[in-house]
Amino acid sequence: MQVSLATVLGNAAESGSVWRLSLAYDALARGAKAARFVMLSLEDRPLQVLPRPFSLSDVWRCADGEVVTEILYKPVGRVTRRMTALKPGARVHLGGLAGNGFPDADPAKRPLLLAGGIGNAPFALHVRELLAGAFAARAGEITLVLAGRSAEDIWIQPWVRASGIRILECTDDGTRGEHGRITDVLRHALPALGAVEAFVCGPEPMLHAVQALALEAGFSCHLSVEERMACGYGVCNACVVESRADGVPRGQGTFLKACVDGPVFEARSIHA
Ligand SMILES: Cc1cc2nc3c(=O)[nH]c(=O)nc-3n(C[C@H](O)[C@H](O)[C@H](O)COP(=O)(O)OP(=O)(O)OC[C@H]3O[C@@H](n4cnc5c(N)ncnc54)[C@H](O)[C@@H]3O)c2cc1C
Ligand code: FES
Repeated sequence: MQVSLATVLGNAAESGSVWRLSLAYDALARGAKAARFVMLSLEDRPLQVLPRPFSLSDVWRCADGEVVTEILYKPVGRVTRRMTALKPGARVHLGGLAGNGFPDADPAKRPLLLAGGIGNAPFALHVRELLAGAFAARAGEITLVLAGRSAEDIWIQPWVRASGIRILECTDDGTRGEHGRITDVLRHALPALGAVEAFVCGPEPMLHAVQALALEAGFSCHLSVEERMACGYGVCNACVVESRADGVPRGQGTFLKACVDGPVFEARSIHA
């Protein structure tokens, strides 16, 4: 895995639980794609702490040619809490890019982007890709559902809100958007949407619930899993996911590695 130093351009809390880190890092030159990720370590202790995986959240080229790469993160533990202290000019080590990313959207279906909590991270880049491709004149056909435990989990880059796509919100405690879970919102929204293709990122219980709904309702569905990772390039087996190819029951499937075979898997192909 190629590791390089990236300089921090900005780092700020956008909501109670979502931080945005902007980096001078050319993810475009490395094959940027929504749901691909970097393995990040802090500059002061790159070797003592295992790197942590973070999705590319957004990537764009500025007028002066510089490429800015954005990461959204939620401070939950040892590394992510220390990331909140990063100031402009600081540097981080980035390994990658890693992972496969979401597949190209089927232009015959409506993209349904489902984000749970910090699973919102890959979707600005995903919307950027859709609007640069088959959905350039069809922003209104894209639906993004932002789900969280409470209002502080609901955030997306302001340009995405202004892009003309449809955004639905829901929270477990009803403090923002519809009161309920993402599957409740989906059951209401699906009949009016017609043929959809779902792209999903969020915590395991949400992936599991959306997968069950997709298999029941028969819509195509791509799950980006957030298994814990150590190496990020396929050698440590920390990130295995069980395959369910050909309907093999749980516990009897072969194992796939989320870092190299994923993190995106078709809903029919794994036990989420
Ligand atoms: C492919 C991929 C992409 C990811 N993208 C993002 C992203 O864009 N933004 C973001 O904030 N996070 C993302 N994550 C999760 C992120 O890597 C973890 O939050 C991070 O490793 C936590 O490091 P830490 O040292 O702060 O926490 P630790 O001190 O290692 O752990 C703190 C707590 O967080 C829990 N935890 C750690 N990792 C995970 C995980 N993967 N899933 C669930 N719980 C976990 C631990 O069990 C523990 O309870 C991604 C994970 C994967 C696999
Ligand atoms: S993180 Fe090491 S094999 Fe996937």
